[in-house]
Amino acid sequence: MRITLYAATLLLVVPAATAQLNVWARIAGKQYFGSATDNYELADKPYFKQLSNTLDFAQITPSNSMKWFATEPERGNFTFAGGEEIVAFAKKNRQLVRGHTCVWHSQLAPWVEAGNFDNATLSTIVRDHSYNLVRNFRGDFTHDKSTGMSSTAFNEDGTFRETVFYKTIGPSYIDIAFHAARKADPKAKLYINDYNIDGLGPKSTGVINLVKQLKKNKVPIDGIGVQGHLIVGHVPTTIKENLQAFADLGVDVAITELDIRMTLPVTPELLEQQKKDYQTVIAACRAVKKCIGVTIWDWTDKYSWVPGVFDGEGAALPWDEDLKKKPAYDGIVDGFTKL
Ligand SMILES: *[C@@H]1O[C@H](CO)[C@@H](O)[C@H](O)[C@H]1NC(C)=O
Ligand SMILES: *[C@@H]1O[C@H](CO)[C@@H](O)[C@H](O)[C@H]1NC(C)=O
Repeated sequence: MRITLYAATLLLVVPAATAQLNVWARIAGKQYFGSATDNYELADKPYFKQLSNTLDFAQITPSNSMKWFATEPERGNFTFAGGEEIVAFAKKNRQLVRGHTCVWHSQLAPWVEAGNFDNATLSTIVRDHSYNLVRNFRGDFTHDKSTGMSSTAFNEDGTFRETVFYKTIGPSYIDIAFHAARKADPKAKLYINDYNIDGLGPKSTGVINLVKQLKKNKVPIDGIGVQGHLIVGHVPTTIKENLQAFADLGVDVAITELDIRMTLPVTPELLEQQKKDYQTVIAACRAVKKCIGVTIWDWTDKYSWVPGVFDGEGAALPWDEDLKKKPAYDGIVDGFTKL
């Protein structure tokens, strides 16, 4: 009852014109609502303007320019200019930055696998990469100071993915990366980030067991990033329970890469379902106190990664290719506001 009154009071004091995504996220007690972006997109003026709008977006994640291929294309040669451009954009707008990402088997610099390094050498490489990346951006992962550490470490059945890191080093490659990142920026919050861990299931259980293990071994882990790459009409029904199970481990939780794709062509029915699906995901984060914020994986269908990766699918974001709001936008607002 108290909650009802509180929300009702806030509804009265927030004029409709400012009822935008980050405004509602903050009212719901979250730290931010944000979007991913990529460097080349910033040359698009209308895109740039909307991304700078802190009423919708108070947080930015570089979608590519902090990945390994972009930051250490040759061993020991670190190139941070792309990431720095995104950080400068965010700082100018007083937006938070989530780093992305220290260790991931995909979009890796080819030399890391081609080198056939032994355990000790690859361990040093993982340590140096994580340290140098986070050290360069020390203090830039502002306010909530979040950085994705290790992405997609698991198979669907909850076993470790047989990446070059796992095969050569074993599961302790994750420990190595986290320790190095903590040393590089003691204030940055360190997350493990994976996909298809949105609802309860074996992969989510794998993450829970890993986090328990990391904590037991005194590996510094602060949060779990739930990517949220979802499909219209197939949003797991156990998102809230799953986020709560993560939070119950004593870590923060964030939805880090949300998009909800559909099989094309777009129809009014699919857009309505997508609106409901966005509402479901946002409401789940809202309901879990330690779910600190939500990031969409870019905000307009114009720059979504989906059509390039999933044949015949797309239209996954709350704005269409012409930068016009879709029903999904209102679905997000509903998720933050509807009781
Ligand atoms: C770094 O890159 C420069 C220019 O491409 C090259 O001359 C140098 O040998 C590289 N250093 C290492 C350690 O790979
Ligand atoms: C790699 O080396 C570490 C440290 O010596 C060891 O604990 C681990 O088991 C090794 N991994 C593999 C796959 O042999």
